Amino acid sequence: VSYSEEELYRPNFHFTPKANWMNDPNGMFYYNGYYHLYFQYHPEGNVWGPMHWGHATSTDMITWTEQPIAIYPDELGTIFSGSAVVDISNSSGFGEVSKSIPIVAIYTNSKKLEGNDNWRQTQSIAYSNDEGKTFTKYENNPVIDNNKIKDFRDPKVTWDDDRNKWVMSLAVGDKISFYESTNLKEWNFLSDFGQGIGGHGGVWECPDLFKLPVLGTDESKWVLFVSINPGGPNGGSATQYFIGDFDGTTFTMDKEFEKSLSKEHNYWIDFGRDNYAGVSWSNATRKDGSKLMLGWMSNWDYAQKVPTETWRSAMTVARKVQLQKNDNGYRLLFNPVEELNNYRSKKHKKENITIKGETKIIGSEAVDLASAEIQFNISNLKETTYTFKLSNKLGDKLLFGYNNIKKEFFIDRKNSGKTNFSEKFANKVTTASRTSTNDNLSATILLDKTSIELFYDNGETVMTEIFFPNAPYSKLSIESKNQEFILDNIEVHKLNF
Ligand code: FRU
Repeated sequence: VSYSEEELYRPNFHFTPKANWMNDPNGMFYYNGYYHLYFQYHPEGNVWGPMHWGHATSTDMITWTEQPIAIYPDELGTIFSGSAVVDISNSSGFGEVSKSIPIVAIYTNSKKLEGNDNWRQTQSIAYSNDEGKTFTKYENNPVIDNNKIKDFRDPKVTWDDDRNKWVMSLAVGDKISFYESTNLKEWNFLSDFGQGIGGHGGVWECPDLFKLPVLGTDESKWVLFVSINPGGPNGGSATQYFIGDFDGTTFTMDKEFEKSLSKEHNYWIDFGRDNYAGVSWSNATRKDGSKLMLGWMSNWDYAQKVPTETWRSAMTVARKVQLQKNDNGYRLLFNPVEELNNYRSKKHKKENITIKGETKIIGSEAVDLASAEIQFNISNLKETTYTFKLSNKLGDKLLFGYNNIKKEFFIDRKNSGKTNFSEKFANKVTTASRTSTNDNLSATILLDKTSIELFYDNGETVMTEIFFPNAPYSKLSIESKNQEFILDNIEVHKLNF
């Protein structure tokens, strides 16, 4: 059988542009029943090039409709990553009084200068009075100028409810600078964060600062996401996070968090290779205070070489972000948004299965393993490695699971299908030591044609990776070498789109 690129690789439920290159998610906001997603887009090629903001809309963050390009390059440069806010009080004055609430996009203009690897990055704004369809650039751009600093980009603006002002986090070299504004046009520098803190194996990018309630308490903390490239825990690009407080001027790490950080820097939103530049949705805080986010499901190590020619890259599934505090300190929890449950159809449930050697759990005759959600639980963990295997008849296989001797999760895509497009792709990755001391292992697994998303321990540890099998995976099995064990239960839902 031979498959077309569309059949074999176009995801069933992860956003991809119809054609051409995409990287970071940008400017996500919610308004009037629609979730908006903009993205770094090169409409004229399948590798990175002059950046535009592509656009897609959704009522549930799962099914997306691609819209016309929203923001085009101009004389100040191409349009790099940034954010958008719903300016409910018309603080910017861009609204048409009593007719519309303006959406204001804040982004980086990047202009190539003479010489290699040399550009000028400034921050600009544009507004929309048609709910994010079209944008008009502000006549006095840039709103934050810059002559000297090479990497000066990715403004993410959030409303600081405690102080009634807008706060911007901006990536500057390998630190984050904060700015404040009352009208989105004039910005004052506040402070810097990051010197000697966290990972510095590469440039810092795509920050996001927001407040989050601590589950089950009246307390709130501030969370700072910082993407870094290279310097991720498994190579290439990845996103670290910090927990602390923001007093309107300075972000200070929580003391306990800082202590655990100095031992081992293990606060990554994802330990897989393919979740980068993720930031939260504006104006979309859930009733329980949780935030919503998604990331770019690729890695700068090989993104421009993956074996899809028509389009390149997908986004991760949208995720809910919560903050938990227990004996191990603060930890963010990431889980797929509940909206995904609306796509569940047929369910297969098995209980108390004895696993001896490699045991088949389910095959494609029962469920399409390229459109499935799986939940499992194993209690009484033993000193062994639990290996799950997705495979096809051609011998391609993706291995993932948990090593309870080393206390780490892993994904091994060395033999997952096409891997030779980049020497950096075929690898086995592991996580930091599992934080949960639970004697139970549970996870949610999302399977699409070219991706796996693993949410362990209620989202304490997440792994997202892409793969390119030569034929769809048709079997899921599980084994534990030389150890018999009981799989307490497993539920496999077919997802229908
Ligand atoms: C992150 C990034 C951003 C930049 C954009 C350019 O992947 O490098 O820092 O704004 O991509 O496309």
